[in-house]
Amino acid sequence: MSEAKREALLSVADLQTYLGDSHIIQGVSFEVKAGQVLALLGRNGAGKTTTLRSIMRLAPPRSGRVVFDGKSADGLRTFEMARLGLAFVQETRAIFPSLSVEENLAIAAQPSSHGSGWTLERVFDSFPNLAARRHNGGTQLSGGEQQMLAIARALVANPKMLVLDEPSEGLAPLIVRQIADLLIQLKSDGMTMLLVEQNFALATEVADEVVVLGKGRVRWTGTSAELRAADDIRHTWLGV
Ligand SMILES: Nc1ncnc2c1ncn2[C@@H]1O[C@H](COP(=O)(O)OP(=O)(O)OP(=O)(O)O)[C@@H](O)[C@H]1O
Ligand SMILES: [Mg+2]
Repeated sequence: MSEAKREALLSVADLQTYLGDSHIIQGVSFEVKAGQVLALLGRNGAGKTTTLRSIMRLAPPRSGRVVFDGKSADGLRTFEMARLGLAFVQETRAIFPSLSVEENLAIAAQPSSHGSGWTLERVFDSFPNLAARRHNGGTQLSGGEQQMLAIARALVANPKMLVLDEPSEGLAPLIVRQIADLLIQLKSDGMTMLLVEQNFALATEVADEVVVLGKGRVRWTGTSAELRAADDIRHTWLGV
C-alpha cells in the first residue's frame, strides 16, 4: 500500500492542554499511519511529554480530538486507551521494584489478537540481558536493563502502537545503540511508534517523519532526511 493511501492509526487534531492555569499545548495536530514511526522532537519544556500524556489521557486535553484505531479518545480513561492497543513507555519507566523481571512482564501480558505476538518466552529470546535477570528484582537492574524491561513490558501487552518518551535518556552510548537497534527491529516488524527523543541522531535514524514542537506548537513537519538538511529549523527549535 502506498504511503498516501494508508489510514492514520493515531490522529491528533488541534490539541489544547492546560496544566493548572498554564496553556501548555496550543493547537497541536499530527497523524501516525499504521507501520510508521513518527518522532516528536523539541527542546526541554517544548511540550513533548505533555502531548503524550494528553494522548494517553493522563493529562486530558481541554479541547481537540484524539482518534486511535478509529475510536475517539473523548472521555476515556488511561486504562481504556491501553485496552484499545496504545502502550505507553513513560520516561520514569515505572518498573515495579518489588517484583521480579518475570513478574513485571507477567502482569502486563495480554494475548495477541493478531497471530504471532509477544510472549514472555519471545521476550527472553530477544532480550538476553532480561533472561539472565529473569528472577532479579526491578531495583537490581541497570538503567539500560530497566529501559529494556519497560519496552518489553509494553510489547507483551501486544499493542497496536507504542508511545515512547525518551527511551535513550540517561543511558550510556553502547546502551543507546542497543535501544536504537531494538526500535529499528520493531519498525521492520511493522510496529507503529510515536517516539519522543532528545537524541537527534537516534530519532532521525529510526523515524520516517518528524514533528518539531516549540513552546507548545508544531513548528515544522517533514521527513528525517529533510530535517537533517533544515539547518535553520534545527538551530532555532532543537539547538542541534
Ligand atoms: N504541573 C505543571 N504545571 C504547570 N506547568 C507545567 C507542569 N508540568 C510541566 N509544566 C510545563 O509545561 C511545559 C512543557 O513540559 P513538558 O514536560 O511537556 O516538556 P518536554 O518537551 O517533555 O520537556 P523535556 O524535554 O524536558 O522532557 C514546560 O514549560 C513545563 O515547565
Ligand atoms: Mg519530557
